[in-house]
Amino acid sequence: MPTESEAPPPSPSVRRCVEGGTALWLPPVGASRGPARRRAVFYNPAMAVDRDLNVAFARVAEERDYPAWDAWEMLGATGVRGLRLVHETGAMGSLVVTEQNPEALWVLRRNARAVAPDLVTVVSGDARSVPPGAPFDYVDLDPYGSPVPFLPALFRAIADGGIVAVTATDMMVLAGVTAGACARIYGARPIRGRLAPESGLRILMAFLDREARARGFGIRPLLSYVQGHHVRTYFAVDRSLSRRETPVGVIDPTTWDGPWIAGRGPFGPMWLGPLGDPDWVRRLRLPPMAARPKETGALLERLIEESPVDRPFYYEPNELARRIGRREPPSVDALLAGLRARQRRAARGHPREAAIRTDAPRATVEEVARSAAASG
Ligand SMILES: C[S@@+](CC[C@H](N)C(=O)[O-])C[C@H]1O[C@@H](n2cnc3c(N)ncnc32)[C@H](O)[C@@H]1O
Repeated sequence: MPTESEAPPPSPSVRRCVEGGTALWLPPVGASRGPARRRAVFYNPAMAVDRDLNVAFARVAEERDYPAWDAWEMLGATGVRGLRLVHETGAMGSLVVTEQNPEALWVLRRNARAVAPDLVTVVSGDARSVPPGAPFDYVDLDPYGSPVPFLPALFRAIADGGIVAVTATDMMVLAGVTAGACARIYGARPIRGRLAPESGLRILMAFLDREARARGFGIRPLLSYVQGHHVRTYFAVDRSLSRRETPVGVIDPTTWDGPWIAGRGPFGPMWLGPLGDPDWVRRLRLPPMAARPKETGALLERLIEESPVDRPFYYEPNELARRIGRREPPSVDALLAGLRARQRRAARGHPREAAIRTDAPRATVEEVARSAAASG
């Protein structure tokens, strides 16, 4: 939650606030009613965890001695995301921010002037056109809903070897509530139920892979996750990867040996490879000025824990108990210990509180669940 500082408000609609370590002019929280997409100046404090993570991500680039990024934030709103990177990390060499709403532009310009006038250029216009300054080393795409309309401009603007971050909030589509729309927009069949958010993330990644390849790039995920009502992926793009076979496929539940998938497939196409780069993920640290240290810290801990067991989808004790015909679910700790005792990798996963990722075949997971339930 942003905290108000003592500066007097310049207008009734924005106030001087702090998110993380950055002071900005922001619309008052809770004052704007109605669907987010109708608000002239968009600011969602619930996404502060996601922006904390963005700061953590950029600080890894800095730690790894990446040359400072010339970056483009495609959909700026108040500029909070990009300006936090400028102010709270040393990763940014310059930042171009596009926005087309006049009121949002007024706030964005004011924020850019306050944070780093020399580093930041605000461009009034449609983000579907590439602004001056391309190619960029880092491009952020953080839309309402689907990122799809903005991808042609994104892939025109990114440098070979650059890094891209893409959010999608159209979870009704990606997570299968409107399966027809998923087929139409992403060309994929979504999974419904408990695995739906991760399936949505993997459908988005497969789509990004396809779009990248169509333009001669391959993608390599660095960090990808589901959180609240959105999914987000950071990936490197590289022309030398474009001819490599990518881990995109469909899942047929009748032959799939991972966590159970309800319904009749095949599902996908989806990204069945790693969600992240273990070396990048293990270096992530809670930013010193995180806006939501508790929530961001908890998410980071899970992302780091699961990274060495980066397998598609996860088991949960309730589901396991149901499948093996027990009333009491085994504990997460007993399941992890049992899997590790059988020389399998196992870790808590980030999408749900009791999620377990493992490289064990399903029969081994069931066997471990039976013995954990018997001794529990
Ligand atoms: C979800 S908000 C961006 C949130 C922002 N990244 C943050 O962290 O607060 C989307 C923004 O994109 C702007 N927008 C939507 N379509 C656009 C377009 N075609 N070109 C430029 N800006 C656009 C909207 O006015 C809105 O401010």
